[in-house]
Amino acid sequence: MINTKQTDSTIVVEPMTVHTGAEIKGIDLREPLTAAEIADITAALLKWKVLFFRNQPLNHAQHVQLARQFGEPTPAHVVFGGDDTYPEIYSIAKFRAANSKRGTASIRPWTGWHTDITAAINPPAASILRGETVPPYGGDTQWTNLVAAYHALSPAMRAFADTLRAVHRYDAPTGAAAAKEYDETLKGGTFAAEHPLVRVHPETGERVLYVSPSFLKSLSDVTLQESHHLIQMLWEHIVRPEFTVRFRWTADCVAFWDNRSTAHLAPRDIFDSDFDRQFYRVTLNGDIPVGVDGRPSTVIEGDPIEPVPVSLTNKKPSESNV
Ligand code: SIN
Repeated sequence: MINTKQTDSTIVVEPMTVHTGAEIKGIDLREPLTAAEIADITAALLKWKVLFFRNQPLNHAQHVQLARQFGEPTPAHVVFGGDDTYPEIYSIAKFRAANSKRGTASIRPWTGWHTDITAAINPPAASILRGETVPPYGGDTQWTNLVAAYHALSPAMRAFADTLRAVHRYDAPTGAAAAKEYDETLKGGTFAAEHPLVRVHPETGERVLYVSPSFLKSLSDVTLQESHHLIQMLWEHIVRPEFTVRFRWTADCVAFWDNRSTAHLAPRDIFDSDFDRQFYRVTLNGDIPVGVDGRPSTVIEGDPIEPVPVSLTNKKPSESNV
């Protein structure tokens, strides 16, 4: 087992697959963490890309407190917004009410494989998801490791991918229930950016095959036909089972992933059951991706995501009852 621990903190890191995912034991995420715990969790996150913590009954304020120890939370969702008391908390309900300040509540369609908000110039660095109402079975989430996916390409394909740029856009999916309302909600919040197809991870220096299927629309500097076929190939490649981990949730689990080096898949099977599912997510503000050639991403549409100031985090963990 590879030991990622940097300190003598009491946390235990149990890898779940060869490349991706580790369960962390020996910690209570409701309490402020020590510097040693933060260092060991950060090191494990950079190595395993997604971490899981069981039996962590966090309330909203503890969830925000946890996130603030690892970075600056973003607003709940750049398009759908959040609520006034907890501006950082994004509600992920089975039938999502998009509690947007821009539009009336509408049903948000479930998404496919994606990396959170890569249509923005500065996609979130990390996401912290907690399961509150968890189905007894079904509703698993999957993650894939985009560094492992990069290394599994042939040297020739890696060298080619290193030179490409890709357009990521946030579009309303078609055919969705309540699509008209959804379109209205999206009108105030279209985001698009051109990112390097291979980004250099700002902390590890690793090369990441930055493919976010729901947002990645086209490759620049190649023909439309080439773009179409290459994207199909990349979509299939990045979700090869050996790069992925599948997590079976139990009540009060927390998943913490590096959004710069992973993509994930929310479950669809929950719609084939009557079980409810209510999750909450906080994302941490990210920087502008940089390619192998040192070129940063460029904005096509929309503003950079700005973090929520601490002054707007207006509830302390002890005051929170949600
Ligand atoms: C997400 O896409 O962030 C949510 C994943 C999930 O609900 O399992």
